[in-house]
Amino acid sequence: MAAFLPIAVLLSLLVTGAMAGGYGSQTPSPSTPAPYTPTAATPPPTPTPAPYTPQPATPKPAPAAQGYDDKKLVVVRVEGLVVCQSCAKMGSQSLDGAAPLPGANVTVTCRDRKNRVMAYRRRVADSNGYFHAEFGVQRADGYLDKDPRGACFVRLLSSPDPKCNIVTNIHGGLEGAPLRDEGKQWTDGRGFKNVVFAAGPLAFRPRECAPTHHY
Ligand SMILES: *[C@@H]1O[C@H](CO)[C@@H](O)[C@H](O)[C@H]1NC(C)=O
Repeated sequence: MAAFLPIAVLLSLLVTGAMAGGYGSQTPSPSTPAPYTPTAATPPPTPTPAPYTPQPATPKPAPAAQGYDDKKLVVVRVEGLVVCQSCAKMGSQSLDGAAPLPGANVTVTCRDRKNRVMAYRRRVADSNGYFHAEFGVQRADGYLDKDPRGACFVRLLSSPDPKCNIVTNIHGGLEGAPLRDEGKQWTDGRGFKNVVFAAGPLAFRPRECAPTHHY
Protein backbone atom coordinates (compact mmCIF):
# COMPACT_ATOMS: atom_id res chain seq x y z
CA MET A 1 0.00 0.00 0.00
CA ALA A 2 2.74 2.36 0.96
CA ALA A 3 4.59 1.77 -2.26
CA PHE A 4 1.41 2.05 -4.30
CA LEU A 5 0.46 5.49 -3.14
CA PRO A 6 3.45 7.36 -4.51
CA ILE A 7 2.94 5.75 -7.90
CA ALA A 8 -0.64 6.83 -7.87
CA VAL A 9 0.38 10.31 -7.01
CA LEU A 10 3.03 10.24 -9.70
CA LEU A 11 0.57 8.95 -12.22
CA SER A 12 -1.88 11.60 -11.39
CA LEU A 13 0.82 14.17 -11.66
CA LEU A 14 1.90 12.83 -15.01
CA VAL A 15 -1.61 12.72 -16.29
CA THR A 16 -2.21 16.19 -15.07
CA GLY A 17 1.00 17.37 -16.64
CA ALA A 18 0.27 15.67 -19.88
CA MET A 19 -3.16 17.09 -19.87
CA ALA A 20 -1.87 20.49 -19.07
CA GLY A 21 0.76 20.28 -21.76
CA GLY A 22 -1.74 19.11 -24.27
CA TYR A 23 -4.10 21.80 -23.58
CA GLY A 24 -1.31 24.31 -23.35
CA SER A 25 -0.22 23.67 -26.93
CA GLN A 26 -3.69 24.04 -28.22
CA THR A 27 -4.63 27.12 -26.31
CA PRO A 28 -4.44 30.12 -28.57
CA SER A 29 -1.55 32.23 -27.59
CA PRO A 30 -2.49 35.55 -26.13
CA SER A 31 -0.66 37.30 -28.94
CA THR A 32 -3.03 35.98 -31.53
CA PRO A 33 -5.07 38.90 -32.60
CA ALA A 34 -8.67 38.61 -31.95
CA PRO A 35 -10.60 37.73 -34.98
CA TYR A 36 -11.91 40.84 -36.64
CA THR A 37 -15.39 41.56 -35.68
CA PRO A 38 -16.81 44.33 -37.74
CA THR A 39 -17.79 47.07 -35.48
CA ALA A 40 -20.99 48.76 -36.31
CA ALA A 41 -19.69 51.02 -39.01
CA THR A 42 -20.90 54.54 -38.98
CA PRO A 43 -23.49 54.48 -41.68
CA PRO A 44 -22.50 56.32 -44.83
CA PRO A 45 -24.21 59.64 -45.07
CA THR A 46 -27.58 58.96 -46.55
CA PRO A 47 -27.95 60.95 -49.74
CA THR A 48 -30.25 63.88 -49.27
CA PRO A 49 -33.34 63.17 -51.30
CA ALA A 50 -33.64 65.54 -54.23
CA PRO A 51 -36.36 68.08 -53.75
CA TYR A 52 -39.53 67.02 -55.45
CA THR A 53 -39.95 68.59 -58.80
CA PRO A 54 -43.27 67.93 -60.40
CA GLN A 55 -42.83 66.48 -63.85
CA PRO A 56 -44.29 68.69 -66.52
CA ALA A 57 -47.16 66.94 -68.16
CA THR A 58 -45.92 65.55 -71.40
CA PRO A 59 -48.17 66.87 -74.13
CA LYS A 60 -50.02 64.03 -75.65
CA PRO A 61 -49.99 63.97 -79.42
CA ALA A 62 -53.39 64.97 -80.65
CA PRO A 63 -55.27 62.01 -81.94
CA ALA A 64 -55.31 62.00 -85.68
CA ALA A 65 -58.69 63.29 -86.63
CA GLN A 66 -60.30 61.77 -89.63
CA GLY A 67 -59.04 63.27 -92.85
CA TYR A 68 -56.75 65.59 -90.96
CA ASP A 69 -53.57 64.46 -92.58
CA ASP A 70 -53.25 67.00 -95.37
CA LYS A 71 -50.58 69.35 -94.10
CA LYS A 72 -49.56 70.32 -97.58
CA LEU A 73 -48.99 73.95 -98.33
CA VAL A 74 -51.28 75.34 -100.99
CA VAL A 75 -51.87 78.60 -102.77
CA VAL A 76 -55.58 79.12 -103.26
CA ARG A 77 -56.69 81.22 -106.21
CA VAL A 78 -60.24 82.29 -106.91
CA GLU A 79 -61.47 83.56 -110.23
CA GLY A 80 -64.75 84.52 -111.78
CA LEU A 81 -66.77 86.88 -113.92
CA VAL A 82 -69.00 89.78 -113.00
CA VAL A 83 -71.75 90.64 -115.45
CA CYS A 84 -74.78 92.81 -115.84
CA GLN A 85 -77.94 90.82 -116.26
CA SER A 86 -79.88 91.53 -119.39
CA CYS A 87 -83.12 93.42 -118.99
CA ALA A 88 -84.79 90.66 -120.95
CA LYS A 89 -84.02 88.20 -118.12
CA MET A 90 -84.84 90.45 -115.20
CA GLY A 91 -86.51 88.61 -112.36
CA SER A 92 -85.02 85.28 -113.40
CA GLN A 93 -81.77 83.52 -112.60
CA SER A 94 -80.75 83.51 -116.23
CA LEU A 95 -77.65 85.26 -117.44
CA ASP A 96 -78.39 84.81 -121.11
CA GLY A 97 -77.38 87.94 -122.94
CA ALA A 98 -75.56 89.35 -119.90
CA ALA A 99 -72.70 91.77 -120.48
CA PRO A 100 -69.36 91.93 -118.65
CA LEU A 101 -69.19 94.57 -115.94
CA PRO A 102 -65.67 96.00 -115.86
CA GLY A 103 -64.67 97.77 -112.66
CA ALA A 104 -67.11 95.84 -110.48
CA ASN A 105 -65.74 95.15 -107.01
CA VAL A 106 -65.96 91.80 -105.32
CA THR A 107 -64.67 90.36 -102.09
CA VAL A 108 -63.30 86.90 -101.58
CA THR A 109 -63.35 85.66 -98.01
CA CYS A 110 -61.87 82.47 -96.61
CA ARG A 111 -62.56 80.99 -93.23
CA ASP A 112 -60.20 78.97 -91.08
CA ARG A 113 -60.74 75.76 -89.18
CA LYS A 114 -62.61 77.62 -86.46
CA ASN A 115 -64.84 79.44 -88.89
CA ARG A 116 -63.01 82.73 -88.43
CA VAL A 117 -62.08 84.92 -91.35
CA MET A 118 -58.51 83.97 -92.15
CA ALA A 119 -58.12 85.88 -95.39
CA TYR A 120 -59.98 88.53 -97.30
CA ARG A 121 -59.36 89.96 -100.75
CA ARG A 122 -61.00 92.78 -102.60
CA ARG A 123 -60.71 92.70 -106.36
CA VAL A 124 -61.80 94.88 -109.24
CA ALA A 125 -63.06 93.14 -112.35
CA ASP A 126 -61.00 93.89 -115.46
CA SER A 127 -62.27 95.01 -118.84
CA ASN A 128 -63.73 91.54 -119.41
CA GLY A 129 -65.48 91.48 -116.08
CA TYR A 130 -62.87 88.95 -114.90
CA PHE A 131 -61.38 88.92 -111.41
CA HIS A 132 -58.71 86.81 -109.83
CA ALA A 133 -57.70 86.73 -106.18
CA GLU A 134 -54.64 84.94 -104.90
CA PHE A 135 -54.17 83.90 -101.33
CA GLY A 136 -50.90 83.38 -99.54
CA VAL A 137 -49.29 80.04 -98.86
CA GLN A 138 -51.45 78.19 -96.36
CA ARG A 139 -51.65 74.71 -95.02
CA ALA A 140 -54.50 73.03 -96.83
CA ASP A 141 -55.89 71.82 -93.55
CA GLY A 142 -55.95 75.37 -92.23
CA TYR A 143 -59.11 76.05 -94.18
CA LEU A 144 -62.54 75.36 -92.75
CA ASP A 145 -63.21 71.63 -93.11
CA LYS A 146 -59.79 71.44 -94.79
CA ASP A 147 -61.41 72.42 -98.05
CA PRO A 148 -61.18 75.89 -99.58
CA ARG A 149 -64.30 75.18 -101.61
CA GLY A 150 -66.46 75.34 -98.52
CA ALA A 151 -64.21 77.70 -96.62
CA CYS A 152 -64.17 80.55 -99.15
CA PHE A 153 -66.88 82.52 -100.87
CA VAL A 154 -67.24 85.50 -103.18
CA ARG A 155 -69.58 88.44 -102.76
CA LEU A 156 -70.47 91.36 -104.97
CA LEU A 157 -69.47 94.64 -103.41
CA SER A 158 -70.15 97.49 -105.81
CA SER A 159 -70.70 98.34 -109.42
CA PRO A 160 -69.23 101.31 -111.24
CA ASP A 161 -72.19 101.45 -113.60
CA PRO A 162 -75.10 103.53 -112.26
CA LYS A 163 -77.34 101.83 -114.80
CA CYS A 164 -76.46 98.37 -113.48
CA ASN A 165 -75.68 98.41 -109.80
CA ILE A 166 -78.29 96.30 -108.07
CA VAL A 167 -76.78 93.20 -106.52
CA THR A 168 -78.46 89.92 -107.42
CA ASN A 169 -78.07 86.64 -105.61
CA ILE A 170 -77.57 84.76 -108.84
CA HIS A 171 -74.98 82.05 -108.07
CA GLY A 172 -74.72 83.51 -104.57
CA GLY A 173 -73.41 86.97 -105.34
CA LEU A 174 -75.34 88.46 -102.43
CA GLU A 175 -75.11 85.78 -99.78
CA GLY A 176 -71.75 84.38 -100.79
CA ALA A 177 -70.94 82.40 -103.90
CA PRO A 178 -69.38 79.01 -103.29
CA LEU A 179 -66.27 77.91 -105.12
CA ARG A 180 -66.05 75.21 -107.74
CA ASP A 181 -63.00 73.10 -108.33
CA GLU A 182 -62.38 73.16 -112.04
CA GLY A 183 -59.35 70.95 -111.92
CA LYS A 184 -56.93 73.78 -112.58
CA GLN A 185 -53.81 73.33 -110.53
CA TRP A 186 -50.07 73.30 -110.82
CA THR A 187 -46.95 73.33 -108.71
CA ASP A 188 -45.21 76.67 -108.72
CA GLY A 189 -41.48 77.38 -108.73
CA ARG A 190 -41.38 77.26 -104.94
CA GLY A 191 -42.89 73.81 -104.93
CA PHE A 192 -46.28 74.90 -103.66
CA LYS A 193 -49.45 73.52 -105.12
CA ASN A 194 -51.58 76.25 -106.68
CA VAL A 195 -55.26 75.49 -107.04
CA VAL A 196 -57.68 77.67 -108.98
CA PHE A 197 -61.29 77.69 -107.91
CA ALA A 198 -64.10 79.43 -109.73
CA ALA A 199 -67.20 81.24 -108.56
CA GLY A 200 -70.12 82.77 -110.39
CA PRO A 201 -70.66 84.30 -112.82
CA LEU A 202 -72.03 86.91 -110.45
CA ALA A 203 -74.42 89.57 -111.62
CA PHE A 204 -75.65 93.05 -110.94
CA ARG A 205 -78.85 94.10 -112.59
CA PRO A 206 -80.27 97.38 -113.82
CA ARG A 207 -82.36 99.31 -111.38
CA GLU A 208 -85.01 99.73 -114.03
CA CYS A 209 -85.36 98.57 -117.54
CA ALA A 210 -87.03 100.36 -120.40
CA PRO A 211 -90.46 99.04 -121.21
CA THR A 212 -90.19 96.24 -123.72
CA HIS A 213 -93.51 96.83 -125.40
CA HIS A 214 -93.60 98.89 -128.58
CA TYR A 215 -96.30 100.96 -130.07
C1 LIG B 1 -63.56 99.32 -106.23
O1 LIG B 1 -62.52 99.34 -105.28
C2 LIG B 1 -61.51 100.29 -105.55
C3 LIG B 1 -60.46 100.13 -104.51
O2 LIG B 1 -59.99 98.83 -104.53
C4 LIG B 1 -62.09 101.68 -105.54
O3 LIG B 1 -61.10 102.61 -105.87
C5 LIG B 1 -63.23 101.75 -106.52
O4 LIG B 1 -63.85 103.00 -106.42
C6 LIG B 1 -64.23 100.65 -106.26
N1 LIG B 1 -65.22 100.66 -107.29
C7 LIG B 1 -66.50 100.74 -107.01
C8 LIG B 1 -67.41 100.70 -108.16
O5 LIG B 1 -66.93 100.80 -105.86
